[in-house]
Amino acid sequence: MKEAIDKIFKELGELKASSQKEAEEARVRFLGKKGEITALMEEFRTVAPELKREYGQKLNELKKQALAKIEELKEQAQEAAAEVMPKEDLSMPGDPQPLGSRHPVSIVRQQIVEIFRKFGYDVAEGPEIEDDYHVFEALNFPPNHPAREMQDTFFVSTGHLNPLLLRTHTSSVQVRTMETQQLPIRVVCPGRVFRNEAISARAHCIFHQVEGLYIDKDVTFADLKQAILLFAREMFGPETEIRMRPSYFPFTEPSAEVDVSCNICHGKGCNICKGTGWLEIMGCGMVDPNVLKASGIDPAQYSGFAFGMGVERIAMLKWQVNDLRHYFENDMRFLSEFATATEV
Ligand code: PHE
Repeated sequence: MKEAIDKIFKELGELKASSQKEAEEARVRFLGKKGEITALMEEFRTVAPELKREYGQKLNELKKQALAKIEELKEQAQEAAAEVMPKEDLSMPGDPQPLGSRHPVSIVRQQIVEIFRKFGYDVAEGPEIEDDYHVFEALNFPPNHPAREMQDTFFVSTGHLNPLLLRTHTSSVQVRTMETQQLPIRVVCPGRVFRNEAISARAHCIFHQVEGLYIDKDVTFADLKQAILLFAREMFGPETEIRMRPSYFPFTEPSAEVDVSCNICHGKGCNICKGTGWLEIMGCGMVDPNVLKASGIDPAQYSGFAFGMGVERIAMLKWQVNDLRHYFENDMRFLSEFATATEV
């Protein structure tokens, strides 16, 4: 037994391990259930009483040394492993770079424009700061029409005959198109417009419109109805129906408001359509002969129709957003909901 103990002492002295695994194997070999030191401990029971003290001390010392040695080997192996490993965890994902997304108003404006482009309409743009002539006068607004008054219009300069103002509709672009383009004309005019209104869930002082104008020989109200019906079905789905209610605009005669069948309750009545089954989407009408004349077009030869809609309104109906202000506040929680909108 003495030799066996000495042999293990010697072996412990020379013991090496190049990994945690090898250190663990050494522990099992010496101190495991069937380990060499464990076996000696068993054997110790049979040692003659006069030798017990000496062997007992030696065995205890052996066990202590073995434990210490193996612990040391484990630590060394761990340190060596840490040195080869890079300090940073290269498998960690990189810093996220959040991608922006299209604004819902841009998505819908683009959709409206694309639909009319398919029907053969060009896109026309014009200035946001306009003069009274292009926003009102050429559009047959009588001199004292309430839309010209301070509460509706933001004036940039006043005090002369043709004051500058922020356009209240993109019909001004239609006037500019009539002035400069050859007939026939078929354009849509997307753009930002401004009205001096209190901000609420249903109104804002800045919003976006897409207006349209078609002028040619023999353009009739039937053409207008067909164009609007096709647009409504492209925009809100093939089942959509439209209805027109008589209305008034200075620049069209006759004029109408267009409703589409509610795409949420399909005409049964819900709180979006306020129980009516219909949603108002735009104004339209046949271009008033006075408007054609003002831009040098002969109303005896040509006729045309015009329409205009609010982009935010269409977007609200499309996505059932009940407060217009969401579109202007740039709250990321709102905007990110449209990050996956696949439409153009
Ligand atoms: N310009 C009108 C508005 O801003 C909309 C409209 C356009 C109505 C063309 C009829 C014809 O409310």
